[in-house]
Amino acid sequence: MTFWIRSRGAATALAALAVGAVLSGCGSRGDEPDLVNGKTLFVGEGTCGSCHALARAGTSGNQGPDLDAAFGPAREVGQGAATVEGIVRSQIEHPALSSSMPPRLLTGSDARDVAAYVAFAAGRPGEDQGALAAAGAAQQSDEPAIVEDGVLTIPADPTGALAYTFPEAEAEAGQIEITMPNESPIDHNIAIEDDAGDVVGTGGESTISVDLDAGEYEYICTVPGHAEGGMIGTLAVE
Ligand code: HEC
Repeated sequence: MTFWIRSRGAATALAALAVGAVLSGCGSRGDEPDLVNGKTLFVGEGTCGSCHALARAGTSGNQGPDLDAAFGPAREVGQGAATVEGIVRSQIEHPALSSSMPPRLLTGSDARDVAAYVAFAAGRPGEDQGALAAAGAAQQSDEPAIVEDGVLTIPADPTGALAYTFPEAEAEAGQIEITMPNESPIDHNIAIEDDAGDVVGTGGESTISVDLDAGEYEYICTVPGHAEGGMIGTLAVE
């Protein structure tokens, strides 16, 4: 499986090199790409990160190739960021026909910015600094979610980041109804142990009803890669 992805990835990269050269020849020059916007799109609604791992962006999606692995070697042999940027842009524009990657998820300067961010970040050791470090980070509450009107509400991050808006929650032992509204376009659910709510997208609600003894429980999204990516929280039951 890994081999298949690697060899496909390399082929895509080579085929795209030519396209990249053309793109950079006639692309709009002058205004610099905005890396902060690029990163925000990568982790947010553009949702590249829901399918692709990229360490600096903190994403670990696994439907598509790991972008650090895909472009790290190119960086090591001295291929410039411009080359990688060209490859990423042509991939956004023209994924393989059989690909599960939707074409033209982003266009125009957004496509340029996300490609520039991938070119900056892929395979680059260390962590993002300054404004880039804050970009795309999920906005999470410092307070725990608490039961209101008999329901514990733990929304999914509305921008599509892999997070619940409450990383912590509290409830009393007994029957608890937990609901996860999801405003983002990325499908999510909420689950505790064997009780998993429906996987829902934009505007949906994933709900479970559980009977819990006192103790500490984890709530997670069971969509593959999402709990590992950060959709995990702690429920303290007293
Ligand atoms: C629904 C899942 C999905 C989403 C969303 C997605 N991709 Fe992909 N991506 C894939 C898959 C699957 C492949 C491998 C097949 C192919 O080459 O089309 C891929 C391939 C790639 C490649 C080529 C990697 C290589 O090894 O050659 C790049 C670059 C890429 N994606 C970047 C992005 C960017 C940037 C975004 C966001 C704008 C994005 N992807 C969104 C699934 C996705």
